[in-house]
Amino acid sequence: MDRFGIGILGAGTGSNCRAILEQIREGHLRAEARIVISDVRDAGILAIAEEFGVPAVFLPPGKWKTKFEPEAEIELVRQLREARVDLIVLAGFMRILKGPVLESFRQRIINVHPSLLPKYPGRAAWAQALAAGESVTGCTVHYVDAGIDTGEIIAQREVPILPNDTPVSLHARIQLAERELYPAVIDQLVAAASYPHSDL
Ligand code: GRF
Repeated sequence: MDRFGIGILGAGTGSNCRAILEQIREGHLRAEARIVISDVRDAGILAIAEEFGVPAVFLPPGKWKTKFEPEAEIELVRQLREARVDLIVLAGFMRILKGPVLESFRQRIINVHPSLLPKYPGRAAWAQALAAGESVTGCTVHYVDAGIDTGEIIAQREVPILPNDTPVSLHARIQLAERELYPAVIDQLVAAASYPHSDL
């Protein structure tokens, strides 16, 4: 049987993408990364994809800042389907996905967020937790819906907040947890998948 295909979307440095690709290469994550797509031309995540021999695509998002223009999102769906992606993995992707992608990949889009959702959705979640005086925060893997970090929670990992933490030190510790949790959760989803592959 064909391997389970994932497509990774991101706009940043790509540390989660690297962790996922490493786990695939080492045989701990039973999937095949079929495409990495970014809406930022020079994003580190695209260079990481190339390093691992995964097709890396820059997709111009259009003129809007928070979402793709409709034509761009239709092109995004086309590329993901052409690459035979079974599961979309968001890794530092900053735009809100709308109808075409959500409908084409219902319950097949996941994200990792740097807080224990439903606490602290949105940007700089680690800084929000620190400012609120929390002693514990963490990261969450969740399905993606039309809201901002509102989809069904799949798994979480706690991270302690230490007395001398700064936003930078706390974010770094959360990212270590993300890089362990995210590939492991993807592997569990692959194992549990009732759909065999690319029959969208
Ligand atoms: C991650 O820390 C994740 O929590 C958030 O975006 C960040 C992306 O970092 N969704 P990277 O590009 O994977 O290094």
